[in-house]
Amino acid sequence: MGKAWSPDSWRSRPIEQSPEYPDPAALAAMEARLATFPPLVFAGEARKLKRQLAKVAAGEAFMLQGGDCAESFAEHGADAIRDLFRVYLQMAVVMTFAGAMPVVKVGRIAGQFAKPRSAPMEKVGGRELPAYRGDIINGIEFTEAARLPDPARLEMAYRQSAATLNLLRAFASGGYANLEHVQQWMLGFVKDSPQGHQYQEIADRISEAMAFMRACGIDSQTSPALQTTDFFTSHEALLLGYEQAMTRVDSTSGDWYATSGHMIWIGDRTRQLDNAHVEYARGVQNPIGLKCGPSLAPADLLRLIDVLNPKNEPGRLTLIARFGADKVEAHLPQLIRAVEREGRIVAWASDPMHGNTIKAANGYKTRPFDRILREVERFFDVHRAEGTFPGGVHIEMTGTNVTECTGGARAISEADLSSRYHTYCDPRLNADQALELAFLLSDLLKRGRQANGHRLAAGE
Ligand code: PEP
Ligand code: CO
Repeated sequence: MGKAWSPDSWRSRPIEQSPEYPDPAALAAMEARLATFPPLVFAGEARKLKRQLAKVAAGEAFMLQGGDCAESFAEHGADAIRDLFRVYLQMAVVMTFAGAMPVVKVGRIAGQFAKPRSAPMEKVGGRELPAYRGDIINGIEFTEAARLPDPARLEMAYRQSAATLNLLRAFASGGYANLEHVQQWMLGFVKDSPQGHQYQEIADRISEAMAFMRACGIDSQTSPALQTTDFFTSHEALLLGYEQAMTRVDSTSGDWYATSGHMIWIGDRTRQLDNAHVEYARGVQNPIGLKCGPSLAPADLLRLIDVLNPKNEPGRLTLIARFGADKVEAHLPQLIRAVEREGRIVAWASDPMHGNTIKAANGYKTRPFDRILREVERFFDVHRAEGTFPGGVHIEMTGTNVTECTGGARAISEADLSSRYHTYCDPRLNADQALELAFLLSDLLKRGRQANGHRLAAGE
């Protein structure tokens, strides 16, 4: 490292998970076209998110990052975006109110199209074809033609991201996120679940508080903060040709930014120090996430931090721990200690999804909800023991009523999985399960604050 960076300097590095296009000239032409298209996000917005994540690193706010494992071209409807945004707002309001913690809102959306795969080929029956790598690369249908990487998909992903972002911006600032609407965010099918009732109680208390404030002369007209919210976008920066095309110089600062989304992250399979994905990410000034799985040694993490955040800038780097419920206690403490010993400023988040994927007896890829909750709890426990702040969660979720993860209050069984299993890649929490997680998180945050209060009172 230490060498000059440019948006294409990743091209001279070894690369993992990179698709092979049958027509490289067509790909190059598409990338050149994309480079002339407008940015999806602005540098100033990415800096705003960085400031909010700096608060997370300081223990003053909590990050909620969530959305689809993989967005798809086929399911690009307003209803699905609204439903995700709705359950997301419900989670955030539960955590802000019951956990008394500002929530930094980051969607896995408007660009989350490229997927790393554990195997390059997929076998169905006796037939073997290249694996599906996300709609920005190839098609999910099990045919030779669909599985061929197609450059036209980059433009479709760009245009879908723009349309999704447009709707999200309207929801976030056009009145939908108004706290006075807290009652209306309830999704039909959640209403009669235990989480629905619990949410209703909180919504009633918020409405009461709002009525009191209105009587005091404070409402969403006088305080616009009640009316709008900051909602940021993020995705795994896996398809680097696309990312390079969307990398632009910010005219205000003269710095390079990824304008494909506010935050980008490096996946657990592509975080090799000298490889292409780390090289690309080090040069853009957006907030960066780094997935940390069981194979990451503390010394390697420190080297990655050196490269990705050489100036130790708060909010620049979020470490996303994804070990699995039964591994987090064995792996996380040593990483935290290394980071603390070296005085590195990072935000810590828990991805309780990717280390807890199993194959059900009937062949479905699923995640037991109790393991997801357990990983989050243990993530909090470890941080409490180390005296550091568990700063956020990174989850795969949807606002639709799917049956992809087993368990939860409605006790989805393995036999239920087939009834509404719609994901394009990994199993997601449905709205009930996502809300249940939000209630657990508010309890954990509250407990953490009480423990802190006791420590302060004892003069520690
Ligand atoms: C993901 O977030 O969808 C993913 C593939 O995660 P990881 O890189 O942690 O396996
Ligand atoms: Co996933």
